Amino acid sequence: MLDLMLSRRTVRKFTEEKVSEEDREAIIKAAMSAPSGRAIYPVELVVCEDARTIAELKNCRSNGTTALSTAPLAIAIIADADRSDVWDEDASISAAYIMLECEKLNLGCCWVQIRGRSNDQGDSGEAVKKLLRIPDNYEVLSVMAIGHKAEFPAGYTEDKIDYAKVHRGRF
Ligand SMILES: Cc1cc2nc3c(=O)[nH]c(=O)nc-3n(C[C@H](O)[C@H](O)[C@H](O)COP(=O)(O)O)c2cc1C
Repeated sequence: MLDLMLSRRTVRKFTEEKVSEEDREAIIKAAMSAPSGRAIYPVELVVCEDARTIAELKNCRSNGTTALSTAPLAIAIIADADRSDVWDEDASISAAYIMLECEKLNLGCCWVQIRGRSNDQGDSGEAVKKLLRIPDNYEVLSVMAIGHKAEFPAGYTEDKIDYAKVHRGRF
């Protein structure tokens, strides 16, 4: 597992090849198998493969959305915030699981942050909700841009691990 975690890098450029149905479903399974605080499971996904919708998702935020320019698959990670006060932690675990499953499948992935971000019309989450017809009581954590890698940033080695930030016994 550590090998997979170290080889994973953010990919923001994708080829035109579609993500296969098998890979897409494996990614969905990974996201939906994440643990959840108090076992509430408030996280839901909106899976988008329509090029026009993905292009419109890109406009929901003013910057940081390069990966959505070429991604053939975008998955919005959303949660019913009325059901859990740790919905964003739960949603973040699903996002991390998606990134790792993508790496396992040799697909590229980029976490495009939506929560707390904006475009010139206002809140990015509200824009994504409007576009994808998501009900009001939901919040949007991120849109995961996914596809076949067209750039290959080098993986990390264990040198990345900064043991100065690991405090054993006490700070
Ligand atoms: C919480 C979070 C939010 C991120 N938001 C964005 C984003 O909005 N746009 C983007 O292009 N990359 C985003 N990234 C990717 C980071 O920029 C990337 O993980 C970081 O530069 C380290 O590179 P690596 O993933 O290749 O290790 C985000 C990553 C995380 C974990």
